[in-house]
Amino acid sequence: MTDTPATPSDAALYALPKAELHLHIEGTLEPDLAFELAARNGIRLPYDTVDDLRRQYDFSDLQSFLDLYYETLDVLRTEADFAELTRRYVATAAAQGVRHVEPFFDPQAHTSRGVALETVLGGMTAALDEAERDLGVTSGIILSFLRDRPVEEAEATLTAALQRSDRIIAVGLDSAEVGYPPALFEKVFARARDAGLHAVAHAGEEGPPEYVLEALDLLEVERIDHGIRSAESPGLVDRLARDRIPLTICPLSNVRLRTVPELAAHPLRRLDAAGVRVTINSDDPAYFGGYLGDNFIAVRDALGMTEAEARRYARNSLTASFAPEERVAELLAELDAWRA
Ligand code: HPA
Ligand code: ZN
Repeated sequence: MTDTPATPSDAALYALPKAELHLHIEGTLEPDLAFELAARNGIRLPYDTVDDLRRQYDFSDLQSFLDLYYETLDVLRTEADFAELTRRYVATAAAQGVRHVEPFFDPQAHTSRGVALETVLGGMTAALDEAERDLGVTSGIILSFLRDRPVEEAEATLTAALQRSDRIIAVGLDSAEVGYPPALFEKVFARARDAGLHAVAHAGEEGPPEYVLEALDLLEVERIDHGIRSAESPGLVDRLARDRIPLTICPLSNVRLRTVPELAAHPLRRLDAAGVRVTINSDDPAYFGGYLGDNFIAVRDALGMTEAEARRYARNSLTASFAPEERVAELLAELDAWRA
């Protein structure tokens, strides 16, 4: 008789100690909280009920999602709103095994409608401090530039942010990808790196493999967010594997935004088999049907996942994080004790 490798249960995948490296805090805004905040702030959402809003979550591509994402985040106005948003995300994430998180926030989506950077950072920081104290979840914030807005705005955003928070550990690049190549942001990323920040960028979600190359060569990023279209270029896959570049893959997001036809066709496992440092993440969990543990379960069900693979994805997330060395070591020890 041959031993078949153990497949982790739902509970085991929730308990798996892991880091979440690709998570937009604004994308954790659940419809019930959106209505609560709208009422509190005297704003009328263009939907009558939570169910009406949820019915809009049928996306055809990235832009169709972004339209709703930017519209709905307008209910976030005060420091207390951002704290509540972050607090609820961390509570759910912690219950699904997230031990360290590096949330993105989109400052320009807030400053452009009159909400100050301090308001966003104040609320997020308060909730993240609380999360570390009460739940043992550590974190670092990633400031993400909107690539479909002028580069000068990204420059001004960086200048403002550098004066305001020591909780920002990295810069990122998100929003509509096609037509907005990483090359546009070469200078602002150089300035962020010179200021001691880490760098990551969304690339190869809807955009071509060339954008992944630009992010590596021109922005000098340490991780690629999504990066799944790299699978179309064997030379790029070899390079990612050789240089140990982490990809922060978001399986449920890719299905919902139709960057893959179905989860069974997702390149995640092929990339892993080619030696690429694959991590699993939730992106905008309120919109895409699941938090981090749910993404692990969905991958297991559609593509298969052995105990060793689950452990490797979790290990990759810990070693690819920007957490201090001692924290990574502590979490790796927790991971060693995990059993499917
Ligand atoms: N891709 C690009 N930009 C984003 C996303 C995404 O999945 N979520 C929030 N902003
Ligand atoms: Zn994203």
